Formats: sequence, structure tokens, C-alpha cells
Amino acid sequence: MKNVMLPAVAMLALAFVLFIGLPMGTTANLQAEEAKASKESSQSVEGVDQAAVKRARQKVGELDNIFKQTIVLITDKYVHGDDDFAAGSAAVLLFKNISDSGETKIRLIDATGDPYEPENVAKDSFEKSGIKKLKKGAQQHEQVVVKDDSSYLRVMTPVPVVMEKCVMCHAHYADVAEGAPIGAISYTFPIE
Ligand code: HEC
Repeated sequence: MKNVMLPAVAMLALAFVLFIGLPMGTTANLQAEEAKASKESSQSVEGVDQAAVKRARQKVGELDNIFKQTIVLITDKYVHGDDDFAAGSAAVLLFKNISDSGETKIRLIDATGDPYEPENVAKDSFEKSGIKKLKKGAQQHEQVVVKDDSSYLRVMTPVPVVMEKCVMCHAHYADVAEGAPIGAISYTFPIE
């Protein structure tokens, strides 16, 4: 079994630093896709205050950092066996409660094709194309959407296998290439 262990710091760096090790062809594809995505999103962002988009992006980044640090900390300190309450389960429950109680919607989803819970998968076209993009090495997938006169920033960030313990319950993570995402966090955040 191949253990993929990265310290939390490296994981966070992965979450925020652009992945530069891609082969040229893939990078070019990615850039083309990003250009297309930003063109698509710029069509839907007309009239949306760019400074507010930037603020929303910053807040999502802060939340993402807190959540990922928390998942690693809980797994490290509290999860000892496969019948312990998993950080993944805690995250799914926390995100559900946050989503039910306000305008911010958050989901933890699978990127391997083999989720623990069938519910935790990419659902709409934004999430489906996001998973494809993150698996190619992108560190972020983003779109501004306008719904019922309100605008929202949608963001997806990758979740890599950061600890050996993840494999205890998700055995197939052992087959995923080091640093590749096994999941993603999907945010819908109000732009105000
Ligand atoms: C103790 C067992 C256990 C450990 C350890 C564990 N998970 Fe999970 N994980 C689960 C369970 C159970 C769910 C489903 C939670 C739900 O939907 O309520 C889940 C869900 C997930 C999901 C959502 C997709 C899916 O498969 O349903 C991701 C992504 C995830 N875990 C990543 C991780 C990562 C990364 C680690 C290591 C930091 C980890 N997990 C450690 C049990 C575990």
C-alpha cells in the first residue's frame, strides 16, 4: 500500500499555490479552459462589483484554510480507528448545517468516482467541470452567478490525501497519485 503523507503546511500550500509541474500541453489546455470559463463567467457578471467579488474570493479562501486545517487536526488528534467519527463526516454535517442556516452553501464532494456516500458527488455542471479541472491540476475553479437579483461567487478547491489515516477508511485513496485531489470543497458565497 502506498502511503501518501504530506504535512498540513504542504497541503495548504497545495491548496493555494499554483501547480506549476504540469506538462506544457496540459497547461495550455488548462489556460484555454480557464479563458473560456472566465469568458463565460464575465457574461454572467455584468453589473457585479469587482471589488465585492474580490472580497468574496478572499473570504472563501479564509474559510477554505480554516476547514482544511480543521479536518487535518481532527483526523490527527481524534480519529484512531475506522469506527471513530470521521472528519469527513464532521465536515459533511458542518457544511450541511451552514448551508441550511444561511446564504452560504458548502459541500464536500468526491473526485475519485468512488464516494463513501453517493450523495457526496458533483451535481451540477459547475461542479462536474470543476472536478475535471482540479484533477488536471488546477488549484481553483470559479464562477460568478446571478440568481434572483443576488450574485454569488462559486468556488471549488481541491482536497488532496494529506494523511495516511485517510486511507484507513477510503482504501482506494492509496491508488491516487501523490498530490492529486481525491475530493473538493464546493462553495457558493454571496457577493455583497
Ligand atoms: C474514520 C473513517 C474515515 C477517515 C479516517 C476519513 N474519512 Fe473521509 N469520509 C468518511 C465517511 C464515513 C464519509 C461520508 C460522510 C457523510 O456523507 O456523512 C467520508 C467522506 C469523505 C469525503 C466526501 C466524499 C465521499 O467519499 O463521500 C471526502 C472528500 C473525504 N471523506 C476525504 C477524507 C480525507 C482527505 C481524509 C483524511 C484527512 C478522510 N476523508 C478520512 C470516513 C472517513
